[in-house]
Amino acid sequence: MSWFTRLLGRSDTPPPAATVMRPAPPRPAPASPPAAPTESLPMFRASAAEQLNATRGGLLDKVRLRLRDAFTPSQPVMDPAMFAGRATILATLIRALEDQRLHVVLFGDRGIGKTSMLHILARQARDARYLVHYASCGEEADFSEMFRGVAEALPLRYHAGHSPIDGEAKDASMASLLPAGPITPRVVSDLFARLTGTRLLVILDEFDRSPQGGFRRQVAELVKTLSDRSIRVQLVIAGVASDLTELVELIPSIRRNILGLPMPSMEADEVTALIRNGERVSGVTFEDPAVQTVVTLAAGSPYIAGLLAQHAGIIAVDRGSTAVAPQDVAEAIGRAAEEIGARISERSRYALDRATADGHRAGLADLAHASLRNSGRFDGTAITDAAGTPESRATLISRATDDYGLIEPVPGDPAGRLRFREEGVPIYLWMSVAREGLA
Ligand SMILES: Nc1ncnc2c1ncn2[C@@H]1O[C@H](COP(=O)(O)OP(=O)(O)O)[C@@H](O)[C@H]1O
Ligand SMILES: [Mg+2]
Repeated sequence: MSWFTRLLGRSDTPPPAATVMRPAPPRPAPASPPAAPTESLPMFRASAAEQLNATRGGLLDKVRLRLRDAFTPSQPVMDPAMFAGRATILATLIRALEDQRLHVVLFGDRGIGKTSMLHILARQARDARYLVHYASCGEEADFSEMFRGVAEALPLRYHAGHSPIDGEAKDASMASLLPAGPITPRVVSDLFARLTGTRLLVILDEFDRSPQGGFRRQVAELVKTLSDRSIRVQLVIAGVASDLTELVELIPSIRRNILGLPMPSMEADEVTALIRNGERVSGVTFEDPAVQTVVTLAAGSPYIAGLLAQHAGIIAVDRGSTAVAPQDVAEAIGRAAEEIGARISERSRYALDRATADGHRAGLADLAHASLRNSGRFDGTAITDAAGTPESRATLISRATDDYGLIEPVPGDPAGRLRFREEGVPIYLWMSVAREGLA
């Protein structure tokens, strides 16, 4: 039994050999063959105007179109109706903000669902009459510019010292109260201190992309001055764990004012809910074993789940069916692996080839799985491959660290755990081993 089927076999589903690996059902001819001017060339399926081509119309075209909105692996979820699960972590976040008045750092690997979560949080907060400012940090992030932007979105009427004057513009903002030129955390917190009649959440997403040094230090200083003065403004910062460590290291005293929340991987029922939402929107149905296969392969990642479900849906539609079978998911893995593989650096790909040649692929895939399951952190005990004796584990870890350069210690991790150096590598490894396992 291969490593991969063993893993699938661990789930409480019918044996995958019977479900996942059965041969593809015969493919009926497309319902209405497109009138192709150039028979041999691939064509776009739908009009960019989103109007279904009447000659090709029919249910399948509609379903294919809807699959794009049903699963959006390259975009965060904005629509609460498409937001699956996450009730516990959302409740924790709200409690931390509302009851404990803490600032929050939400951390976890890319694709785990932080941005989606923040959008839903923002929505809930606005419903409770909070002002919410969402900003995504880029490499160019500049403290003055960012917080001038926040002030621009703050209506002047929420400023304690404000008395409206005749003829004042309705959209007058607090930015008019800021001095020209660069602004410091102190100036920002002085302005925020005058906020009245509401509360403000400033959400800083993609914090890991922000420049190291100046910007992050200023954000840490802002957290400190805001906390010292119990001001009606709270920060929610999202990024990867090492940024939290760095933020707190910059000004250790802010530790007690910050709640560090790891974004957990999704539970099986949450991934199932994600698929069921997509079914509702698209009109495809996933057979139960197909759902189970996606759940197993997603390893708690909503990104992988959406990617696989979307591909599997399209594959089913392409063979003329709106019922997604396990075989469609198995085929989707190939496409997903290719798509993800195209984004891996040449350096990592070369390193993976070497590791494979040395017989370390299965062990590395174990680490990749553990990484997906545990917010990007793992240790050697994750290696469950048949050859996983303590010595062979130690060898694999040291080779993967020193020779292949694929993994590295997590800076400042008290438990001495490790992580992959390139973020796309664990997902790629996991998907490509899954593809090989099912081949
Ligand atoms: N709760 C959720 N329900 C449904 N899909 C989700 C959920 N969370 C994340 N996703 C999907 O997973 C992918 C990654 O989510 P995103 O919020 O961008 O993660 P991150 O910000 O951590 O990189 C997106 O395609 C998004 O559509
Ligand atoms: Mg994000």
